[in-house]
Amino acid sequence: MSAQNKAMDGSGYFLYHSIGMYPGKAVEMAEALSDFSTGWARCDNEQWVRALGVRQEFIDRWSTLIGAPAGTLTTSENVTTALNSLIGALPAERLRGRRLLIAGDCFPSMHFLLSGLSERYGFVLDTVPVRPGEHWVRDDDVIEAWTDDVGVCLITYVTSTASHRCDLGRLVAHGRKRGSLIGVDVTQAVGLLPFDVMRPAVDFTISTSLKWLCATPGAGILHVAEPLLAVCRPELRGWFSQGNIFSWDLDRFSYARDARRFDNGTPSIIACAGSLPALKWHARQDTSALLTHNRKLSRMIVEIAQEFGFSLASPLDEAERGGSVMLALPEDRDAVELVARLAQADLYADHRGQIIRLSPGFMTTDEGIGRLADVLKTA
Ligand SMILES: Cc1ncc(COP(=O)(O)O)c(C=O)c1O
Repeated sequence: MSAQNKAMDGSGYFLYHSIGMYPGKAVEMAEALSDFSTGWARCDNEQWVRALGVRQEFIDRWSTLIGAPAGTLTTSENVTTALNSLIGALPAERLRGRRLLIAGDCFPSMHFLLSGLSERYGFVLDTVPVRPGEHWVRDDDVIEAWTDDVGVCLITYVTSTASHRCDLGRLVAHGRKRGSLIGVDVTQAVGLLPFDVMRPAVDFTISTSLKWLCATPGAGILHVAEPLLAVCRPELRGWFSQGNIFSWDLDRFSYARDARRFDNGTPSIIACAGSLPALKWHARQDTSALLTHNRKLSRMIVEIAQEFGFSLASPLDEAERGGSVMLALPEDRDAVELVARLAQADLYADHRGQIIRLSPGFMTTDEGIGRLADVLKTA
């Protein structure tokens, strides 16, 4: 097979933690975006009916995917804006004078956002550190730091640097006893690992669609459960936050009863249109088979890493791992060079510092893993 074909067949594609792929993605996305363009550019008066229908389908499919009851989920541009919207909506007493607990291996953008907001909303951002020499924050350490003064805890279900999967049931059960609001970032899990907003019941969920769900950038979501939803007053609001978006009396703004209160101005639709084919594809799959495939290839990577003396930066126990296997290179090894060598063999991975991230997904094959072994052997 030519190099061009290898890159196209996805056999050596290990970037599902970044951008997910499924067979036929390019064609289906192009068709969906072309349909959107045709509908948007038609000289009639139904453009918004068509466009908002596309957005609603995106919301409905996402709601089904994570078990969110109707009216508790809306779109956001990305995970950071979803969290920003949520924080700006919480009753003041949930934040002022309280701690907002987060683990040090959260996605950095969440931390950048929260550290910038802490002064204004009067909370202390408390970051549970990764222990020296380790690659993820232990659940035990989160639990120890999670005392009654925690107003909100943001849990990262699966981390982006170690693919550590926390014990969500245990953390949520603990947080409930502390009376905290509990949110979860499911970006690195959704589409691969089962997740249901009711089991265990969380107060809010943030994510986006481009990773294991294989969709496009710009297609984030915010889910807010009752009874929290009813008391949220989003600071970022606009005409689309209202039950009746055409209520334009300047003195009579009123929030929609449901998650639409988290909308603001005219919503972005193109990312929803571009993402629907992937969501539809995913809904047709046997999700346990997708996970089984990932688990099998992940085990092969772990064995190769062990055989060639690479140090694992992800949990060995797959019950504690998401879909990725991270390898920690020694300080004197050049991660950039290794990623480039992999690419020469049509193996696509990336690195964060000395951590090589390998995420075998739906199109990755045993043969791709074989090529990976060949390169790692000589590395
Ligand atoms: C756990 C996690 N959260 C969030 C994000 C992305 O956040 P945003 O959509 O704000 O860029 C990523 C991206 O890799 C991630 O891994």
